[in-house]
Amino acid sequence: REKVTVRHVLKAKKRGEKLVMVTAYDTPTARLADEAGVDMILVGDSLGMVVLGLPSTLQVTMEDMVRHTAAVARAQPRAMIVGDMPFMSYEASVSEAVRNAGKLLAAGADAVKIEGGSLYTDVIKAMRRAGIPVMAHVGLTPQKHKLLGGYRLVGKTAEEALEVIRDAEEAAEAGAFAVVVEFTAWEVAREITRRIPVPTICIGSGPYCDGQVLVIHDLLGLTPSPPPFAKRYADLASIIRSAVEAYAREVRSGQFPSSEMYWGMKSGEYQRLQK
Ligand code: KIV
Ligand code: NA
Repeated sequence: REKVTVRHVLKAKKRGEKLVMVTAYDTPTARLADEAGVDMILVGDSLGMVVLGLPSTLQVTMEDMVRHTAAVARAQPRAMIVGDMPFMSYEASVSEAVRNAGKLLAAGADAVKIEGGSLYTDVIKAMRRAGIPVMAHVGLTPQKHKLLGGYRLVGKTAEEALEVIRDAEEAAEAGAFAVVVEFTAWEVAREITRRIPVPTICIGSGPYCDGQVLVIHDLLGLTPSPPPFAKRYADLASIIRSAVEAYAREVRSGQFPSSEMYWGMKSGEYQRLQK
């Protein structure tokens, strides 16, 4: 199967085919997600919370994102790799934004994602000018949780809904090839999906979208307190816990390692060693 490109993603919307995106932060997980046939792999800055144990995404650096994007790229997935731009890598100036996006592409990303819409049309345009496909992200934007007043459902009033819709429209007009719509009232996501020509990829914003995205640790049951919109498709936490418990039990009882798992010297060599 051929590599998923921006053209494939745009075509999917026209054909009414749902786009499937999931996060991954390392080579083996990216390989498995790709084997499962996802369209896009997001190297999200959710990395900070789900992998690095940080309190929020605000502590994630360009260095972190470059290292993990490169790890995902080493899986050589057919899926498009989207590298998340971390906090303070694109807000301060347009030129810094383009240079940092370039670093993610050099690390192996096929596109980058920034949080925001209307306020970042200059950044989106400059990235396009540099040949860097950009995904926008509207609704709940976790990097701005302090300004937003926490991680809350966005667009419950018509005023707020209009703001989010405008964000998505202006991002698409500026040249974003897709827009993530996070934790908005479902009507807002449906309205955006109807109005913009590029795909909407939703998380916690209902079914009337061109695609869906989930954090893979939430999907696999590896996060202790996942958001309410993250469906658990497996309970890997208990699988991992019982496997390690079984190992610990066998080490303590002497069952591990068993005879087929260790090897001796050549015959006669042990006797020579004793002399
Ligand atoms: O970082 C991330 O995982 C994300 C998705 C939740 C869209 O931005
Ligand atoms: Na993110």
